[in-house]
Amino acid sequence: MVPVEEWKKRAARAAAELVEGEVVGLGSGTTVAEVVRVLAEKRPRAVFIPASRQTEGLCRKGGLKLGTLEEYGEVDLTVDGADEVTPQLDLLKGGGGAHTREKLLALSSRRLVIAVDRTKLVGRLGERRPVPVEVLPFGWRQTAGRLEGLGGKASLRLAGEGPFLTDNGNYVLDVWFERIEEPRRLERRINRVPGVVENGIFPGMADVVVVGHEEGCSVLCSRRKLGEWVRERLPSKL
Ligand code: 5RP
Repeated sequence: MVPVEEWKKRAARAAAELVEGEVVGLGSGTTVAEVVRVLAEKRPRAVFIPASRQTEGLCRKGGLKLGTLEEYGEVDLTVDGADEVTPQLDLLKGGGGAHTREKLLALSSRRLVIAVDRTKLVGRLGERRPVPVEVLPFGWRQTAGRLEGLGGKASLRLAGEGPFLTDNGNYVLDVWFERIEEPRRLERRINRVPGVVENGIFPGMADVVVVGHEEGCSVLCSRRKLGEWVRERLPSKL
């Protein structure tokens, strides 16, 4: 197996150990798919709210009980992946185009646990990836022009012959910024552009980041108290 796949699995397994509560959110992507696989074996007695059709399908296959954010409103804990993670635990997400629903889930969750392999760790956001921005198809070229007015270089994400479509029926613009010095400020500025639905910058939203690597797993926590919470559940990781 390619090492990075094994690191991802390690992170997913550890993140699955942290799943607790009655209502659990699940993001999207290949790491979350691994988390779902582990949960399907353990079958915790929780209701799961998936952020994408892909995750929903995997949950159904694994026999996990499903719910919606509208029904439950408050989520005990959400597990998700990320494309970039900084030392401040700011995240860049949306590689799979599911970041709008993922952000809505994260905002309604008491705890956000992120599982990544160590290749996702960066010094600052936007170092390796563009910022995914979900936009309305109507007037997308004008929206792209306005985003370029913020200093980015925008390109329409494609899938086969045509534009990639999100689960919400929208397009994604991938916008490269030279340097992202203030993620929170850029997140707000992008979202103020008419036609933008949501962007993939998640500043200060992660509580715990589980990182898989050569030697196992490490855990990064946004607050010291969370360290205690993780230590009780994953004694060997901290
Ligand atoms: C989807 C996401 C994913 O969490 C992110 O792209 C990471 O995916 P993977 O686990 O496949 O590397 O934000 O919108």
